[in-house]
Amino acid sequence: MSDQGYFGQYGGSFIPEILYSSQQELLKHYREAMADPSFIASVKKEMQEYSGRPTPLTFCPNLTKQIGGAQIYLKREDLNHSGAHKMNNVIGQGLLTKRMGKKRVIAETGAGQHGVATALISARLGLECTIYMGAKDIARQYPNVFWMKQLGATVIPVTTGSQTLTDALDEALRDWTSSYEDTHYLIGTSCGCEPFPEMVAGFQSVIGEEVKEQAMAQFGAMPDKIYACVGGGSNACGIMLPFVGTDTELIGVEAGGRGDGPGDHAKRFNTDQAKFGISQGYATKFLQDDQGQLAPTHSISAGLDYVGVSPILADLGDRGLVRMTSANDEEVIAALKTLIRAEGIIPALESSHAVAGGLREAAKLDSSQRIVINISGRGDKDIFTIAKALDDKPFNEFLHSYLAQE
Ligand SMILES: Cc1ncc(COP(=O)(O)O)c(C=O)c1O
Repeated sequence: MSDQGYFGQYGGSFIPEILYSSQQELLKHYREAMADPSFIASVKKEMQEYSGRPTPLTFCPNLTKQIGGAQIYLKREDLNHSGAHKMNNVIGQGLLTKRMGKKRVIAETGAGQHGVATALISARLGLECTIYMGAKDIARQYPNVFWMKQLGATVIPVTTGSQTLTDALDEALRDWTSSYEDTHYLIGTSCGCEPFPEMVAGFQSVIGEEVKEQAMAQFGAMPDKIYACVGGGSNACGIMLPFVGTDTELIGVEAGGRGDGPGDHAKRFNTDQAKFGISQGYATKFLQDDQGQLAPTHSISAGLDYVGVSPILADLGDRGLVRMTSANDEEVIAALKTLIRAEGIIPALESSHAVAGGLREAAKLDSSQRIVINISGRGDKDIFTIAKALDDKPFNEFLHSYLAQE
């Protein structure tokens, strides 16, 4: 549990006064719910029966042989209902929304995975649902937009700023200031004001808890290293928090994008372009321009181009408890191709960052060592971006001929 929402110097609650009472109400309900065994049991039941947990820990014999170093295991969050780890959080917050007696949820989404997950749980729990999504992300993740709408959600395109996740988050916060009486802001990552970072990380911690049990059952020890991609930070917090302070090394992989220049990546660590700042309701490391404004970002994956990062990870990074590295767009596509061919598993572009980081280091490790890479989601949603990156001509021809049909 955080101290007043702070993790070291990061976190806190920097919200407009109008939101203060609903933030306090949320905090109270959240603390009560987490102390109520029947609420915890209902979350666990829904994770099992609706989302298909536990997800497997899959050993990769072919990849291990090909890379020639550590033994490689994958935590299969891609096998959640909805195809990503985002489901863990929406189940928790969806049930909390019902418990608070609210009728509507709003959410921001980047890759669309959190938007789809929120629309799914809203349909299941009978909640009205509005999703804010950057116009740029809508264009590159349209299949997810299609499903959100089919599920009954209203999808609002955000055309301000860089038209990506950062701007969608701003718009969702704006909605909440006028709708908080009947609306819960179902934030999709471990960011924002207290208690969101702790709450989202808490619902996601099921990932790491399962890895602990599965590692003991499958190879009788803890993994030597764990890799996770870092956007806002929820899948990384989820798999890492249960291991903080143990002998397992924790490595976050950020979006290295197309270069190190401003606007070309989304690295909030290992760069002097990210500085301590306060925005979007909380304090963390934000990518900023010379004037202290939030800076543009780039990543081949729509889910990793967020300008800030979980205050929990910012603090763990400062304290040396999590090591941060990055993978660039090219390395990500290469890692994705390698995994697909070696093991018949199609990772999301976001997760492929973790794969790239993991494979790069696995090659230098000893064969007695074991690494776990978190496959936060599956890659079906990325078919258009991947086909473009691979310059797959038959796929482009298919798209053209499909559109030419009556
Ligand atoms: C599959 C997948 N992985 C990772 C992320 C990044 O989010 P986070 O850092 O909160 O896990 C996203 C975000 O949309 C995603 O869809």
